[in-house]
Amino acid sequence: MSVTVRVPAKVNVQLAVGAARPDGFHDLANVFLAVSLFDEVTVTPADELRVTCTGPDAAQVPLDRTNLAARAALALAERYGRTPDVHLHITKDIPVAGGMAGGSADGAGALLACDALWGTGASREELLEICAELGSDVPFSLIGGAALGTGRGERLTAVEVGGTFHWVFAMAGRGLSTPAVFREFDRLAEGRDVPEPVASQDLLAALAKGDPEALAAAVSNDLQPAALSLFPELADTLAVGRAAGALAALVSGSGPTTAFLTRDPAAAAEVAAALRASGTCHTVRTASAPAPGATVLP
Ligand code: C5P
Repeated sequence: MSVTVRVPAKVNVQLAVGAARPDGFHDLANVFLAVSLFDEVTVTPADELRVTCTGPDAAQVPLDRTNLAARAALALAERYGRTPDVHLHITKDIPVAGGMAGGSADGAGALLACDALWGTGASREELLEICAELGSDVPFSLIGGAALGTGRGERLTAVEVGGTFHWVFAMAGRGLSTPAVFREFDRLAEGRDVPEPVASQDLLAALAKGDPEALAAAVSNDLQPAALSLFPELADTLAVGRAAGALAALVSGSGPTTAFLTRDPAAAAEVAAALRASGTCHTVRTASAPAPGATVLP
């Protein structure tokens, strides 16, 4: 008996970042959009907690208790007074340390899979609460679609999306550490007033309309200068995608994956071909949005 859950990656179409808080986190206005790149987490009863992973980036995935999937199983087991005696297998398709919430996806996936396997009967609210303890992006991986995250990004309000958006993602040859990118944001912000993060009404309206041109005009990422400062070559990748006709080119979350919004699948294929030919990135993928959140597969 085993349970498999499929979980999407995300891109942040708006990532407004406030000043560092006393706890080290930053208040955000974070508009998440789930995209059709997926990890799968399969949970099977076992003698003890064990994590395995397959996929192109599998070698970079930690298999110990720092893995968010393991931490999710431990958290749920503790809450329901049982032993986390499961084998968690991750089929990884989301880039590792790429700014697309791949680790968070595995945490949300493992949580939902263990919940189904153990029949805990936990409510959606309870699962979201555990997700928020695991990490700022984990609750969104559970719900998918599109949402505005406030606080450190974990307090979610669903956002309406009135159409399908076509994206291209360029993965870099190495990862970026999210804490390092936030530290670089703080360094670059030194001596400057950082405004309170506020969701863009133009952006929310563009999502609701399903209008790619309007969305392209409204996307923003306050972490982009920090990611570019740590990884200057990303500017070349962004320039290639823009020149190939992308409506918008931006760093995804804390990076280093770059995201290109296009008008339609044909334009996406053109941008993807130009990026592949350019030699400025490691892998190129196309995806559509919004994608559903964590889902138990039949
Ligand atoms: O919540 P999560 O564990 O994913 O956060 C990883 C790191 O990213 C934090 O330790 C912190 O350095 C940074 N972060 C932040 N402000 C946020 C979210 C994350 O500074 N709102």
